[in-house]
Amino acid sequence: MNRKPIRKAVFPVAGLGTRFLPATKASPKEMLPIVDKPLIQYAAEEAEEAGLRQLIFITGRAKRSIEDHFDKAYELEMALQRSGKEKLLEIVQNILPPEVSCIYIRQAEALGLGHAVRCAQPAVGEEAFAVLLADDLIRGTSKGAIAQLSALYERFGCSVLCVEEVPPEETHRYGIVQTKPGPQGTLRVVSIVEKPAPETAPSNLAVIGRYLLSPRIFAKLDQTPRGANGEIQLTDAISALLQEELVLAHPLQGKRYDCGSKLGYLKAQVEYGLAHGELREAFRQYLRTQRF
Ligand code: UTP
Repeated sequence: MNRKPIRKAVFPVAGLGTRFLPATKASPKEMLPIVDKPLIQYAAEEAEEAGLRQLIFITGRAKRSIEDHFDKAYELEMALQRSGKEKLLEIVQNILPPEVSCIYIRQAEALGLGHAVRCAQPAVGEEAFAVLLADDLIRGTSKGAIAQLSALYERFGCSVLCVEEVPPEETHRYGIVQTKPGPQGTLRVVSIVEKPAPETAPSNLAVIGRYLLSPRIFAKLDQTPRGANGEIQLTDAISALLQEELVLAHPLQGKRYDCGSKLGYLKAQVEYGLAHGELREAFRQYLRTQRF
């Protein structure tokens, strides 16, 4: 693979978000806030901090608020300026630094994650790129998950999947990888299967919502028929890719909150609330005094 620095991040945000209905009937799951910031902004910041400068959103119906969120908001800015709310004005004006640009591509039908990633090809072209699923909120130990994957990409110039051990009874919710030792102490992916039952799962190492992918994935997606749930699965295309190219697995260094599920979302609210500069003390105090 041609080893240029990773510049582009793809955010598939066209899913239906059925697990959060009715909240997601008219507004995207990715705009659900954790304390005061929407999930999509945490993911965009993670990509930006890893040095990525082009953000490509794969959107669908009822997702306009994502575009609005990253756009300029003249009326709001004027109102904040007039009322002297400088701090809030600064927050609103600096959602993303000026050197970061956004592209929006519409996925006409929610045909699956693989199909959503395939929609990004015209904007990605022939270079390796990152994929971030914003409903996996990640707090990296020393650096963000995409920066962790990029470091491996810089050394080996290959696709890298972020993985985490999950309880065996949860393998049916994830793409699960089988690995063997790879170059210089890494983990090489030898097989990947989407949503296996615990009895057939090759391991309990699950792929979580961060990927660095070789552009060769697009050719593989072109040949991928509908798989599990009648959707075009990214996992199936990765399975074809690893027959031809090195694909590494990187165990996440950090903590992941599965904010696509209600329980994971609640956990993230509590932990981010307890770490929030303005709220930390009052929230801790509140929790201490409650009998649940
Ligand atoms: P999920 O499997 O979480 O599906 O998609 P979902 O529709 O978002 O949520 P539920 O399960 O109905 O509650 C994983 C990721 O892939 C994106 C989603 O937006 C999410 O980030 N996706 C999924 C697409 O962009 N397009 C699709 O057709 C399917």
